Amino acid sequence: MSHPEMKSAQTAPGNADWQQRKDAAFSRAQGNMAPVYIEHAKNAEMWDIEGRRYIDFASGIAVCSTGHANPKVTAAVQDQLQRFSHTAFGITPYCSAVELAEKLNALAPGDTPKKSVFVTTGAEAVENCVKIARAHTGRRGLVAFSGGFHGRTMMALGLTGKVKPYKHMFGPFPGDIYHVPFPVEYHGITTADALAALDNLFKVDIAPAEVAAIIVEPVQGEGGFYPAPDEFLQALRKICDAHGIVLIADEIQSGFARTGKFFACEYAGVEPDLMTVAKGVAGGFPLAAVVGKAKIMDAPLPGGLGGTYAGSPIGCAAALAVIDVIAEEKLLDRSNRIGRMFGDRLARLQTDYPAVIGDVRASRGAMVAMELVREGQSCQPDAELAGNLVNSAWRNGLILLSCGTRGNVIRFLPPLTISDELVHEGIDIVESCLKGLLAPG
Ligand SMILES: Cc1ncc(COP(=O)(O)O)c(C=O)c1O
Repeated sequence: MSHPEMKSAQTAPGNADWQQRKDAAFSRAQGNMAPVYIEHAKNAEMWDIEGRRYIDFASGIAVCSTGHANPKVTAAVQDQLQRFSHTAFGITPYCSAVELAEKLNALAPGDTPKKSVFVTTGAEAVENCVKIARAHTGRRGLVAFSGGFHGRTMMALGLTGKVKPYKHMFGPFPGDIYHVPFPVEYHGITTADALAALDNLFKVDIAPAEVAAIIVEPVQGEGGFYPAPDEFLQALRKICDAHGIVLIADEIQSGFARTGKFFACEYAGVEPDLMTVAKGVAGGFPLAAVVGKAKIMDAPLPGGLGGTYAGSPIGCAAALAVIDVIAEEKLLDRSNRIGRMFGDRLARLQTDYPAVIGDVRASRGAMVAMELVREGQSCQPDAELAGNLVNSAWRNGLILLSCGTRGNVIRFLPPLTISDELVHEGIDIVESCLKGLLAPG
């Protein structure tokens, strides 16, 4: 299907031309996975400047959960743009930000009264969690997990537990950061192992009384789509309570209906002290937040947190609309249904290719993954196949993402507004690409 403006675009430079210009104009460090230049997008489909159509199983990395160009979100943003686009919330505030903070405070798990701080990106939200936790506790230490991803600014990078490409050549990182293994049974690390490592850390490196915060993703994103076992999050809650440590849930990728609950830590029934929110919250407009227990959130001095664009009115208008769309279109249920569809289809694919698809993870709504290995062995990751599958997919009209500390996981993050038909059409493409790649010769 071709966009009306495509006729004139046919004589215009194509994807390859733009990729050449991009490579010349940008640092190689700011890479792009698929050399396709998007002209327009609608819900779960995108069209490039050559008129080619793609099903989107990435949602701009879990951002456009309410679909591309969602009519309600677009209308809210257009209305806001007519009125004003920026005043600086720290100078002359606006009502939409207050309304949004009230809604986020109410949506955050647990009964303890909450307060919010708005910023612009996920990494900034993580940085601010650290500042708040340190101000509250007066302590220095930070504990994070191997395979965790918390962003690209220096503190967030220090907390991140994956070297290449994120941390490689960028050190030294801020001090007082300690990493502990994240429990992934598929890779032989149990909850008991991870807790024993934490206990060991408290004996050999830093006393718990000097730890300000433990930061954990309730479902690891970049690290490989590994859900934290419920009992692990519950144990962390207990440890934090016992030692006065702030528990930070990084819900930047797993939050906002992505996993079939508003926030993924609800699966474990755990109330974090601080929680990061970004990506899906504003349907594609830059907005991020820290939402946390009011007493902790009030620890820093007035003016100690914020930023020029923090809580942009455009992002706030979009986020208020996103919250309405999630309720009106029952996207929590939809997320679970999408997850089941993926789970069923991928489990069948796994029976066809048991030596290649080592694990399918589909227990957390529309945050689904399959892990590619050799000879059915979890210790033999096949990153090459994952990369080839991603490339073959976009060439065949499907945007897919890989992830994982070992680079061998395919993650599925479609908009929650995607139709059943498109889910199946997209998985058909995955199947045929995989079949093509595995065909002998
Ligand atoms: C769990 C998690 N934390 C933090 C970040 C960083 O967010 P941003 O890229 O908006 O800075 C990401 C981004 O992928 C993420 O998935």
